[in-house]
Amino acid sequence: MRDQDQSLYDVYKDYFSIGAAVNIRTIKSHKDILIKHFNSITAENEMKFESLHPKMDQYDFTNSDLIYHFARTNNMELRGHTFVWHNQTPNWVFEDKNKQRVSRETLLQTLEQHVSAVVYRYGEGIYCWDVVNEAVEDRKTEYLRDTKWLQIIGEDYLMKAFEIAHKKAPSALLFYNDYNESNPEKRKKIANLVFTLKKNGAPIHGVGLQCHWNIFDPSFDDIKRSFEIYGSLGLKVQVTEMDISMFEFSDRRADLVKPTVEMIEKQATLYEKAFKLFREYKEVINGVTLWGVADDENWLDHFPVRDRKNWPLLFDENHEPKEAFYRILQF
Ligand code: GLA
Repeated sequence: MRDQDQSLYDVYKDYFSIGAAVNIRTIKSHKDILIKHFNSITAENEMKFESLHPKMDQYDFTNSDLIYHFARTNNMELRGHTFVWHNQTPNWVFEDKNKQRVSRETLLQTLEQHVSAVVYRYGEGIYCWDVVNEAVEDRKTEYLRDTKWLQIIGEDYLMKAFEIAHKKAPSALLFYNDYNESNPEKRKKIANLVFTLKKNGAPIHGVGLQCHWNIFDPSFDDIKRSFEIYGSLGLKVQVTEMDISMFEFSDRRADLVKPTVEMIEKQATLYEKAFKLFREYKEVINGVTLWGVADDENWLDHFPVRDRKNWPLLFDENHEPKEAFYRILQF
């Protein structure tokens, strides 16, 4: 019987790395859990375009450096997140000083300079990058999300982004990353997108599945089917942003002070089944990352319902292991 004295990443050493999203506060406040149980980290926000490159002629590596050094000091893998995204990207990237839209060439050049500067700073210290994040549209009738990247560069913007990333970071593993990855309709589009990129010769090495789930949705059947599909694409698969919310997405209740016994059990069961499935796919999965460390600090406390507490992670508000933690530790 394993107990909490055992390191989670050590238990998974023959399967895949165990990661957590961190920020400049949690690398201090959650340091002990991170060092003991995780051997990979992702910057929650600190390596996004707006954080690293807020103005055309200004880079800011202050916070990302702290995360980079935390990973180096503690011998952890570092995932890069993210180069091309419709969110958290400053306007100057898309507009010139007169608020006119930049040309395709200019935008491609901006991306190339950005990637170049970031890779120059961190080199092989970042072993993989989410090159493009969330390019697929959720609405059933549409395929690609209507973003400025798409509008300005055109449909080949993903291909271009992967080419640029590969040129500047030839040894990094390059990922396409998205959410609602287990929804059958969106899954079809994501799988088609990465398959087509690969077929057309893009230097893409993997698909990142965010796996922001809740205790009701997606169904385990959909999750299982998704791993069959993504696992058969001939690419690496990573779980990149996993958490399991206690609320269905459309549920706006805000009165819960602590999760019920049923909720805790449902969450633990889903974590348990999911990790069992991940272990079955260890040949293709080379990383599983949780989107946070412990329930005292997690993005779902604010989203989609402001100031509503949520409990989506493996450790509780006091940094103690939850039932879900024991279930994935014991196999
Ligand atoms: C998406 C992004 C992440 C993060 C989460 C919310 O999944 O990929 O970087 O912003 O939303 O925390």
